[in-house]
Amino acid sequence: MTGKSALSVLFLGVAIGVAGLAIFSPSWGPPPPSAVRTVDNVLPSAPTAPPTAWPDYSLNGPGFLTPAMADGELVAYGHRLVTQTFAVIGPEASDPAKRFAGNNLSCQNCHLDSGTNRTGLPLVGVAKTYPKFSARDNRVLSLPERLDDCMTRSMNGRPLPRESRETKALLAYLRFIAEPVPMQNEPAPAPPQPADAVRGFTVFGTVCAACHQLDGQGVRIGSVNDARGYRFPPLWGPDSFNDGAGMNTFDDAVGFVRRNMPRGVDPRHPQLTPQQAWDVVAYLKTRPRPKDPSVR
Ligand code: HEC
Ligand code: HEC
Repeated sequence: MTGKSALSVLFLGVAIGVAGLAIFSPSWGPPPPSAVRTVDNVLPSAPTAPPTAWPDYSLNGPGFLTPAMADGELVAYGHRLVTQTFAVIGPEASDPAKRFAGNNLSCQNCHLDSGTNRTGLPLVGVAKTYPKFSARDNRVLSLPERLDDCMTRSMNGRPLPRESRETKALLAYLRFIAEPVPMQNEPAPAPPQPADAVRGFTVFGTVCAACHQLDGQGVRIGSVNDARGYRFPPLWGPDSFNDGAGMNTFDDAVGFVRRNMPRGVDPRHPQLTPQQAWDVVAYLKTRPRPKDPSVR
């Protein structure tokens, strides 16, 4: 794709997103202007154009080199499930029987760079740490059970059947990237002041909206129902993770946002201050999103 056509696709995406929001879902939009106060916070400068610093995982991207090993094909399918989740098991997937995820996210929208990015919720090494005690579920979880949690909450969908090729492929891929020492999701340093959603809205509007849009609905790569996922994923609304997801907690979201957003930032030199990261997450937590069906 040439730079120019990529740009026009982006603009088209933005136009469709804005038009779609105006027509169909006003309730997912930004808060009324009355809720917006300015603060004397020094904000980092907003990116003027989306960076191209991360790999192309779109359907046109270069793809994954199938490893020369017994279950190499399965590993490659697992990689595809992590990077192009929307196309294979998303709500718009060509095979209706495989529509297990409830949104058009990909696993790597959060587990960055197919789960191999040190600061982006890495999946490297985690397979070896299961079965593992989950404080949240208050019991020991097997790796497939942990996958169910991300499927039902982060992907706002339903569990993959245990005997499916999809479960086997994800497990094969997770084992494939499990050889190195496991990496932890680093927590963010505590904020100097309590997190404040009003200040957070200013951060959101100045920094995040350039990509995720002011209405938080992101920018699709193609159009609705073509199962091509997002160039910039939504941060709330009907096609986002649900309120039971880890990304809806300060614990998981603050460190992720601080080190990885704006996408492409060098995690060793974050653009956001810890305070700004806490504030913007506080703002995200005020936004509407689907309910976790497992909580009543
Ligand atoms: C909306 C963001 C998001 C999406 C999308 C998402 N996850 Fe997660 N996932 C998380 C968070 C947050 C955690 C908790 C991280 C932690 O505990 O360190 C997590 C944890 C996990 C874990 C356990 C990691 C560990 O260290 O124990 C696995 C495995 C996992 N996810 C797999 C997946 C797979 C496979 C998909 C796609 C089908 C997926 N996730 C989609 C946010 C997400
Ligand atoms: C330069 C564009 C850009 C900017 C600016 C940006 N993001 Fe992102 N964001 C992305 C991309 C791209 C992804 C998906 C990562 C991937 O697929 O590699 C993402 C993913 C995310 C995710 C996890 C996926 C999801 O759907 O929830 C969160 C949370 C997030 N961003 C929050 C923020 C916040 C908060 C800000 C502002 C502080 C921000 N982002 C600024 C591009 C951006």
